[in-house]
Formats: sequence, structure tokens, C-alpha cells
Amino acid sequence: MFETLHKATLDKIFVLMAEYAADPRSEKIDLGVGVYKDETGNTPIMSAVRKAEARIHENARTKTYVGVSGNRGFCNAIVDLVLADSVDRSRVRTAQGPGGTGALWILIQLLNRAKPGARVMISDPSWPNHWPMMELAGLTPEHYPYFDPKTRAVDFDAMLATLDTLGPDDIVLLHACCHNPTGANLTEAQWDQVAASLARTGAFPLLDLAYLGFGDGLEADAYAARKLASSVPEMMIAFSGSKNFGLYRERAGCAIAIARDEAGADIVGSQMSNVIRASFSQPPDHGAEIIRVILEDPALRAEWEAELAQMRERMKRLRVKLAEAIRKQSNATDYDFIAEHSGMFSLLGLERDVVERLKTEDGVYMINDSRINVAGIPEDRVDALASHLLAATRQ
Ligand code: LMR
Repeated sequence: MFETLHKATLDKIFVLMAEYAADPRSEKIDLGVGVYKDETGNTPIMSAVRKAEARIHENARTKTYVGVSGNRGFCNAIVDLVLADSVDRSRVRTAQGPGGTGALWILIQLLNRAKPGARVMISDPSWPNHWPMMELAGLTPEHYPYFDPKTRAVDFDAMLATLDTLGPDDIVLLHACCHNPTGANLTEAQWDQVAASLARTGAFPLLDLAYLGFGDGLEADAYAARKLASSVPEMMIAFSGSKNFGLYRERAGCAIAIARDEAGADIVGSQMSNVIRASFSQPPDHGAEIIRVILEDPALRAEWEAELAQMRERMKRLRVKLAEAIRKQSNATDYDFIAEHSGMFSLLGLERDVVERLKTEDGVYMINDSRINVAGIPEDRVDALASHLLAATRQ
């Protein structure tokens, strides 16, 4: 049976994670996988999460099935959080997915049923899992221009020019905030232009919303989702609770579909349930239930929002510190973009051999495309990191 198979490659993000774990050097610095870290390098359990878990533990009476589309209270709370009043709820249907990736998987399975083999436009570059996921689902990925390596900002003219050429048979995957891997994001005015372009061409928006609250705040980060929801007749959103609730291993995600009308929404909802039943039958409940408890309880929600704000502010502070340290040491503004980017990542624009050298010689780990996770910047060793980066690029 297995003779026809070749050894498959693991995603580079997880390869790097394993290399970092195996590195015995105590001074090593992990700027790799996208998980939040505090000043001790730990990925903490948020205090609102601990309290919600204790409450769940106290009140739980059963472990019986929840249902194919998952925890309804969780899904409804996520729609409130993401879309607020931007769309008539009779057009919205949701299903819980195992993580944001699971939610995305449900949505793209459904899209491939609606338009088998359809073209999906993906930003260049994008999260490395987007392309293989589309291929595995049967869709046809292609790139649209996004990042300008010279300015380290979005090449918006090129992006929009490509979006303007699309039509109703095309799907466009957009990072709703905190672009992964670049950290370069659209302004609200640019999102307005994207929304107008999609409304004009009829191309179908699929939003990946994995970092809500990590950029400029919960409201600001929801701008794109809400703007598009109020501008186009149909769209989808894959929401992840992994980062903003720190629930990585619990796999809590939400698939949101907006249809033209209620009858269309019912069909889409039934298709999502059908995909889930045939894929994994039902999603896991624990992470979703934690989020539901937090979002439905005003005190826990306020506590979560405050913790999330602290995490966001810390990442912003680390960005500024690293950019300043590099400016001080080099007398040049080449890396100021790190402070201008937002979210968890910045793409530094280093050559592969520089990235490799930083890893082997200095123990500084980043993804081989030179993406750094800013939460991994060690606050007490920012100067050392800056000098490693400058020395490696000078060689
Ligand atoms: C990342 O981009 O590092 C995270 O989203 C983790 C992952 O699943 O790739």
C-alpha cells in the first residue's frame, strides 16, 4: 500500500520549533512559531481562561455530544465580537471548527463544493499553510501582489490592480488584520477600496481572522470584516481563538458564512454541517466553551479584554524597542518598519543564508523567509538581538 508514497515535508514553522527545542544553548532566542510569550518566555494561560475553566469544571454535568455545528453560544458570541451590527443576522450561519485552521478547512471544502477547482487568490507572501490547504481542498491557489520588499509595506496599487481584474468565479483570501507573515497591513481607507473593488467585480472574499485584538484593538481589528460584510452580498470568515484567548492546543475556531438572504444562508449552514459530519463528525468543545463563558460574562470579558490589551501593548513596545536599538547601533532607519508594522509578525527581508547564520551562529531563530514573532523579542536582551541582526546582515 505505502510503496507509492514519498516522505512528506513538515511545515517549516514546525520544523523550526523542533530545532529550537533541541538547541541546548541557554542564550537562544525564539522568534519562530506564532505563539504569544510573556517576559519570561512562557506562553501563559490567561487569567480569564483559568477562571472560566474552573467554572466549567464546577458546573459540568455531562460529556455527551454537543452537536455537529458545535457550541452555539460560542459561535453567536464570535459573530457579535467580529461583525457587531454590520450585517443582518438572518444571512449569517456559523459552525465551530477545530481551531482557525479547522474553520478555514470547513469553509474551503464548502467553496469547492460550490465551485469545484475555483481559483483562490492568496497574498504574496502568506501563511505557509494557505496554499497547501487550498490544493488539498481541490481549489486552485494563485498569488496576488501584496508586500513590497523594498519599502516593507503593502504594495497597495499592485494589489488593487490585480483585485480589479477578478470576477465572480474567483475567491480572494484576505488577512483581516495582523498580516501573517509580513506585519504590513491595509489602512481603513485601503480596506474601503478593497470592499468597493469586490462589490464591483463580484469576487468572493474569504477572510482569515486569526489575530483579532493583536493589532490595534478589538474594534479596529474588526474593521475589515465589518466593512466587507456591509459591502458585499456573500463572504466567509475563519476566526481563530488560539492567539487572542491563548487557547492554542484547545483548537477553538469559528467558521462564519454570510449569504445573500436567509434561504441561501440555510443552505450554506446545512452544507457546513454536512462537511463537518463527513470530516470529523463534531468539533471539540472545551476551548469553545471557555470562550463562550468569558464572552457572555461581563466581568470575565472585561478581564480578558484587559489581558489582551496588555499583550498587544507589550508586542508594540517590543517593536519600538528593537527598532530603536537597531537605529542607535547602526545610525540608520532601515529597520524602523518593525515599529510601524502591527500584529505578531514582521518580515525582515533578510536573505536565507543570513537567517541560517543567525540560527547556527547566534541561536536566533526565525522562519526562513525572515519572519519574526515580535512577542519572542527578549526585552532584557534587545541590544544583543539588534547587534546580532546587524552583524549578520553585514557579513
Ligand atoms: C504561525 O503562523 O506561526 C502560527 O499560525 C502557527 C501555525 O499554525 O502555523
